Amino acid sequence: MTLETVCQFLREAGTYYLATVDGDQPRVRPFGTVLLYDGKLCIQTGKKKDVAKQIARNPKVELCACKGGEWLRVAGEMAELDDRAARVAMLDRYPELRAMYDPDDGNTAVLALAHGVATLASFTAPPETLAF
Ligand SMILES: Cc1cc2nc3c(=O)[nH]c(=O)nc-3n(C[C@H](O)[C@H](O)[C@H](O)COP(=O)(O)O)c2cc1C
Repeated sequence: MTLETVCQFLREAGTYYLATVDGDQPRVRPFGTVLLYDGKLCIQTGKKKDVAKQIARNPKVELCACKGGEWLRVAGEMAELDDRAARVAMLDRYPELRAMYDPDDGNTAVLALAHGVATLASFTAPPETLAF
């Protein structure tokens, strides 16, 4: 497993569920954006959203997606990648987001996952792990 295959799995799954920490309360919601940018696994959100505020307070996240008989969990720490070119690349990858977001709107955020561990599991094969 590589970061490319992690990104591809999430893209093919279509939807993943992103969990954050809100005090002592886990929060989870569906997400879809994913982009490998400059060797980093990135997602897109809006700074105004609770999810972004939770990550700013506590960067620990975990996400999960499933596809076929496999499921992928990725844990790590997320931080904003404050790079206009990354915001442009993300909106180029998901042009439909341009209806709501602009690279210079002060709201669009690309978040990169660091100190990550990805685990691919299935009912039939032993789990595969990637630390990145
Ligand atoms: C299939 C699907 C994919 C989504 N993908 C994203 C995404 O990539 N980024 C995002 O900010 N919101 C995305 N959303 C919307 C969030 O789930 C929604 O705004 C959620 O309420 C954010 O969490 P929060 O309320 O804790 O801030 C998606 C929603 C759905 C149904």
